Order: sequence, then structure tokens, then C-alpha cells
Amino acid sequence: MPKSLRKQILKQGDLPTHVAIIMDGNGRWAKSRNLPRVSGHKEGINSVREIVRVCGEIGVSYLTLYTFSSENWSRPKKEISAIMKLLVGTIRKEINNLHKNNVRLSTIGNLEALPVESQNGMKEGMEKTKNNTGLNLILALSYGSRQELLMAVQRIADKVQLGQLNSEQISEEDISRALYTSNVPDPDLLIRTGGEHRISNFLLWQSAYTELFLTDIYWPDFREESILKAIIEYQARQRRFGMTGEQVSA
Ligand code: FPP
Repeated sequence: MPKSLRKQILKQGDLPTHVAIIMDGNGRWAKSRNLPRVSGHKEGINSVREIVRVCGEIGVSYLTLYTFSSENWSRPKKEISAIMKLLVGTIRKEINNLHKNNVRLSTIGNLEALPVESQNGMKEGMEKTKNNTGLNLILALSYGSRQELLMAVQRIADKVQLGQLNSEQISEEDISRALYTSNVPDPDLLIRTGGEHRISNFLLWQSAYTELFLTDIYWPDFREESILKAIIEYQARQRRFGMTGEQVSA
């Protein structure tokens, strides 16, 4: 099945350059099996591994995963610490494999807010893979889009205050350049698993024209076939960027 889906993707045309994912539903996946929430996160890591592999293999250039939001800090302390441990454990365990597969690891968000151990795991992983040229795997950690925009406004205001920039000349590019994602193209496809129909403070500026793909599948069940089908649906849509259908196909 995935083999014929891959063929269809190649035949249909353009791949999304940047896929962003809100990985939701780990807790409910666990609850539906009478397991503790952390089992859902653990199983979710198997989905992460599989989705990273598939995206790398088919030639997606950027994959951004909403791993921990600024709002997730209000979860129970025990769950936060379990997620942080899983994060650093997974990176340490997987980094050689990622490196071997030419994956470049990076992050967006307030990394400094993470426990030192998790920060160090991320920093080591990013350092090791910084020259890789394959899939760019971006983990959003302690990330919130409003906080990111606030930071961008502050950076730009500083420039205005220093006389380096005139307020009337501030452009959309200036704003894009002041975000964590300054070197990353806007996402083409944003997937949310777990049945919710919300953006939840994720890449608000960057996803102005992004195609949304919402699915009820819980993240631990979202695997190769699911992402290939999402990409096939994306390819079948016509992206108009505010123009008419005739203009786009002309
Ligand atoms: C959302 O499900 C999931 C999270 C907030 C955490 C996701 C983290 C991982 C899968 C581990 C990440 C590790 C790496 C290496 C990327 P939820 O808990 O909100 O589910 P619910 O809505 O059903 O409660």
C-alpha cells in the first residue's frame, strides 16, 4: 500500500517543501487503552521516527514538529518531566541514526526555558548534524507563536530606536526575518492529528497561506500511510494565494 501511495505522489507532482505537524492525541490514545498518558507519548515517538524517515525518503525539505508548546508548561509537573526525559532520551538514542540519514536537527522556541539536560541534548544533536544537507527536522520546543511575534516586534522596535530602521519602511520581510523561522520557508502543509480543529498558537504568521489537513487519527497511530495520504490530498488541492483559479492555472 505505501509503495503505491509513494508512486502516486511522484506522479502527481510537487511535494510540499515544508510540512508542519501538531502532534495531538497521545493522551487520548493512552486513555483509550487504559494506559498512563506517558505511554501515549512513548508510542508517539515511534510515529515521530516513522514520519521523519518517510519525509526524508520522499524528499520533503523541512519538517517542523510541535513538540512542546509554551502552554504545555501548565500540565502536571510529572507529565512535563516525563516528556522532557523522553525528549532528551530519544535524541541521544536516535542522533547517530539521524546523522547517518543526513538529517539536520534544529529548534524553534525558547530553548532556554527547558531543563539544562534537555537543552544540552538538543545542542549536542544540533552541533553533530549542523552540516547535513537532507531533511531539516525542526522541533518546536517551548514554542508559542504570539511570544515569537512579540519578540520580533521588540527586535524591530530596537532597530527603530537605534535609527537603523524607519517605522514606515518596516516590511513583511522584516517581520519574517525577526522570527525563529527566518531561514525556513513558510509551511506548505500543516497537519493536525487528534481531531481538534485549531491552530493553537503554532506558526500563526508563517501559515497565512498554508494548506490545512486535519485528521481524527491520534498521533501514535499516525504513520507512513497517513502522511502519504495527507500529501496526496495536498497535491490535489489548488493553492491560489488569493488569486482566481484561472490566474493560477494560466
Ligand atoms: C500531544 O498529545 C503531545 C504532546 C504535547 C507531546 C508530544 C511529545 C512527544 C511525542 C515526544 C517528543 C519527542 C521527540 C523526539 C520529538 P496530548 O498529550 O495533548 O494528547 P491529548 O490531547 O489526547 O491529551
